[in-house]
Amino acid sequence: MDTNIEDIHRSGLDDLKAARTSKEVQDLTVRYLGRKGILTQFLRNISQLPAEQRPAAGKRANELKGILEQEFKTAIKKFESADSDNLDRIDVSLPGRPLTTGYLHPITQVNDQICDIFSSLGFDIAEGPEVESDYYNFEALNFPKDHPARDMQDTFFVNDDVVLRTHTSPLQIRTMEKQQPPVRIICPGKVYRCDSDLTHTPMFHQVEGLLVDENISFGDLKGVLTTFVHQMFDDQTSLRFRPSFFPFTEPSAEVDILCVMCRGKGCRVCSRTGWLEILGSGMVHPALYENVGYDADRYTGFAFGMGVERIAMLKYGIDDIRKFFENDLRFLEQF
Ligand code: DAH
Repeated sequence: MDTNIEDIHRSGLDDLKAARTSKEVQDLTVRYLGRKGILTQFLRNISQLPAEQRPAAGKRANELKGILEQEFKTAIKKFESADSDNLDRIDVSLPGRPLTTGYLHPITQVNDQICDIFSSLGFDIAEGPEVESDYYNFEALNFPKDHPARDMQDTFFVNDDVVLRTHTSPLQIRTMEKQQPPVRIICPGKVYRCDSDLTHTPMFHQVEGLLVDENISFGDLKGVLTTFVHQMFDDQTSLRFRPSFFPFTEPSAEVDILCVMCRGKGCRVCSRTGWLEILGSGMVHPALYENVGYDADRYTGFAFGMGVERIAMLKYGIDDIRKFFENDLRFLEQF
């Protein structure tokens, strides 16, 4: 018999000190006091000791059995009550942490709404480059070099012949170059102008529209835009067409809607006029047909262009365009 009873005593208490859970102490109980446990084994082997040593060894082993049983039991109780204390500290009736949901940016939402309305009227979507040549951004749209109308657009120049597009109108030319009438497209996209205040940001979004076919009249333009406004705002929103000028349309008109805030009475938002300008439009200038090789005697068409931020501001009553780009979630989550 080579295991010393005092070694068993010492290692039993050391193991107990190292235990961290009631499960670990239960395992120790099996290891020392179970059927094949270390101490049980020791007791069984006492019969092999010389007769004179047996009574003392048996007494000492039984004493240790009592000690370990007591120590292990106490430790198990201690760990179990600590576990239940922890359970009491967790309030299982508290609501879980909310999972945050993502939102589409309000400009994306309004852009999608505009596209959906024109798609339902049979318009296809066309897209083009944001870094654009002077030819597509100006020249082919009937802005001759040094024409004062170029000053209307505060252009970012890349070099003498390349600009950041100032509008989505270049897509009119790009599309007509590739395709014979009938043409029925809208062109959503980012545009750039060197301008920044309450109602202007250096980058903003436009949606351009172009429809060219035989026998297209200003009446068609009015019909399409009236349908658009009624769907975008509501069918009580009246429109008016006000004569204007754009190099690429003749005649040209700006479209106003009855002020969405005061319904025409006059307020701060509409500068007391009762009307709000929402887009530019007109009949495609014959010079454009010449530039793309269309038969100007056979085809007529109309075009229009609008700012997405402006539509969103009017729809939601927002007075500062910069709010769209500050990424303040408290603002963005309202849409
Ligand atoms: N491109 C013009 C702008 O950015 C908007 C515009 C006006 C587009 C009239 C058109 C149009 O297609 O016919 O100011």
